[in-house]
Amino acid sequence: MATRSMYAFRFSCRSPWYDRGHGRHALIDRRTPPPYRPGWSGHRLRFARFVDAPGVASAACRSSSPILRARRAVTGQHARGPSPPPDAAEHRTDDDSAHTTRRTGMKIGIMGAGSIGSVLADRLSAHGHQVKIANSRGPETISAEVLASGAEAVRADQVAAGVDVLITSVPLVRVPDLKPLLGQLPGEAVVIDTSNYYPARDGHIEALDGGLVESRWVEEQLGRSIVKAWNAITAQSFGAYAAPSGASGRIAVPVAADHDDDRGLGMSLVEQTGFQGFDAGTITDSWRQQPGTPVYCTDLTADEMPRALESAIAARSPRRRDLAMNVISELMGDPTSELGEDFLVRVNRLLYV
Ligand SMILES: NC(=O)c1ccc[n+]([C@@H]2O[C@H](COP(=O)([O-])OP(=O)(O)OC[C@H]3O[C@@H](n4cnc5c(N)ncnc54)[C@H](OP(=O)(O)O)[C@@H]3O)[C@@H](O)[C@H]2O)c1
Repeated sequence: MATRSMYAFRFSCRSPWYDRGHGRHALIDRRTPPPYRPGWSGHRLRFARFVDAPGVASAACRSSSPILRARRAVTGQHARGPSPPPDAAEHRTDDDSAHTTRRTGMKIGIMGAGSIGSVLADRLSAHGHQVKIANSRGPETISAEVLASGAEAVRADQVAAGVDVLITSVPLVRVPDLKPLLGQLPGEAVVIDTSNYYPARDGHIEALDGGLVESRWVEEQLGRSIVKAWNAITAQSFGAYAAPSGASGRIAVPVAADHDDDRGLGMSLVEQTGFQGFDAGTITDSWRQQPGTPVYCTDLTADEMPRALESAIAARSPRRRDLAMNVISELMGDPTSELGEDFLVRVNRLLYV
């Protein structure tokens, strides 16, 4: 019998706008049951690779596709958003950062055309950037849908040439393979990485098991400083919940980097993909957005971010990450359970927040 990780299983789906600021945040105070509406007749979801995890199919729960939803939700909607909450004074969001003038028309390379890279390519090209995207198998294997907004499929050894920004979005264990492909990456280009460490997928990496911050390890592998962004949102939420600046309940995405300008650029690009870029500090701090922490794939708003970042516990997050994987694998292995489209976020909130 096919398991959930193999399916072609279909859900009905609520609109991306359904329950913004109501049901989703009611999940946090747990006063209201999850607002699933299995009979809702709007979008049909293809349950493809679903979660950023090994052994469980990864990729997104898609309403027609995350790319099409992204295009509907994001294009052309980038007004300035609300001021940050008072308790977020030491953190900035994209909207209050002096150096994050919205940038368009940049040359962006994306290494990785999976669940995250493909949506990034679509949204950033729809925003007016000149985007190249590559996978490991060659440009002919990148689907036309990924390229529909104007991104160009290229070979992996071409993607870094002449870009202003390179986004690396491959399984963490594949990051070392990228180094030889960066020969033509301009010295001034900003590198943004989306990766997360899952030992069950990536194998055990001693330095990371020993507590080295994941993005430091990535920097060591690439020989470049990086910005950490888009790692802490599920492919499902990334595909489904893009929203214009100022929308109620808009999801915030933490962005960490050692250089303020690079972090500001990362926050601007997060904004352009439909989420609130949230200043999460330096790469040293970025363990606070790794798997198992309260901000990791729990769909928080900018108001909720500061407290969640503060409450992360370094020693507990790897255990919680692995616990979450076991819970998700168990649930997905049961073909009779009704998981609902946001079950990953619900599991994460239960274990991480
Ligand atoms: N899925 C999520 O929910 C999620 C959320 C946030 C962050 N992340 C993180 O973001 C990263 C990407 O995740 P994903 O879910 O998008 O992965 P994915 O769907 O498995 O896609 C990975 C992509 O990386 C490409 N790739 C692998 N090795 C490569 C190489 N040496 N050169 C060029 N391309 C290479 C693959 O190309 P081929 O298919 O041709 O091999 C594929 O296009 C991971 O580190 C993941 O932990 C994932």
